[in-house]
Amino acid sequence: MLMDFSNRHVVVTGGTGALGTALVGALLEHGATCHVPHRSEAAAKSFPYRGNPGVKLYPNVELTDEKHVADLFGAISPLWASIHVAGGFTADPLTKTAKVTLMQQLDTNLVSCFLCCRAAVNAITRGKDGGRIVNVAARPAIEWRQGAGMTAYAASKAGVAALTAALAEEVAKDGILVNAVAPSIMDTPANRAAMPKADHANWPKVENVARTILFLASPDNQAARGAIVPVYGKA
Ligand SMILES: NC(=O)c1ccc[n+]([C@@H]2O[C@H](COP(=O)([O-])OP(=O)(O)OC[C@H]3O[C@@H](n4cnc5c(N)ncnc54)[C@H](OP(=O)(O)O)[C@@H]3O)[C@@H](O)[C@H]2O)c1
Repeated sequence: MLMDFSNRHVVVTGGTGALGTALVGALLEHGATCHVPHRSEAAAKSFPYRGNPGVKLYPNVELTDEKHVADLFGAISPLWASIHVAGGFTADPLTKTAKVTLMQQLDTNLVSCFLCCRAAVNAITRGKDGGRIVNVAARPAIEWRQGAGMTAYAASKAGVAALTAALAEEVAKDGILVNAVAPSIMDTPANRAAMPKADHANWPKVENVARTILFLASPDNQAARGAIVPVYGKA
């Protein structure tokens, strides 16, 4: 089977969200065991893969907390891949963006990703086979002008992109391939509700973004590292 994850353990942060749920579904189809930390009990209750034998849920995990992250990754061995989907969005003009909002965006998008990358590298290097890390940036992370009106978000996701490329060089020698995807606005229920008049057909589907991540995280990816892959659909 292509992209065979049999007997492979994969962490998916943000795994109960829109993209995360599609990704967990794709990983399960390809034989992975998924470790899904979550913060919101409500999201975990409606998670369609709750009770699936291939899924282990970890409640009350705040990914900006070093101890929570260390405990999560310390409990998983051996770890093959870690996929960092968790993040959050805010859009305001710069003059209306308080420092607290900037710090929240940096925390949610960059700090959570940084801490999970660090813990994942430690966990993967405890094994002998190397592994994969995939981060989730966003279009304004690589096309900065697209970040007008959402500067705090764009800056925090640009940090994720830079972290990805720098870390990829740092850990390639350990057999760990680190990459990211940069989605444009995805077709999610939240985005449809927020933008009812937009052309939803042009938005990338979460299932398609998930399949791109699946390849980057799979053993079939033998060479790609440090890429920030645009996943824009027809947008
Ligand atoms: N939606 C888009 O159009 C779009 C476009 C480009 C990039 N992205 C990026 O793609 C990723 C997934 O987007 P999505 O639409 O699937 O988002 P989503 O449905 O809101 O899911 C995000 C998930 O991340 C979790 N999370 C965020 N911060 C966390 C923290 N500090 N600790 C623990 N969990 C945390 C959330 O938990 P809670 O439920 O507890 O909040 C939620 O489960 C995000 O990184 C987003 O920035 C999205």
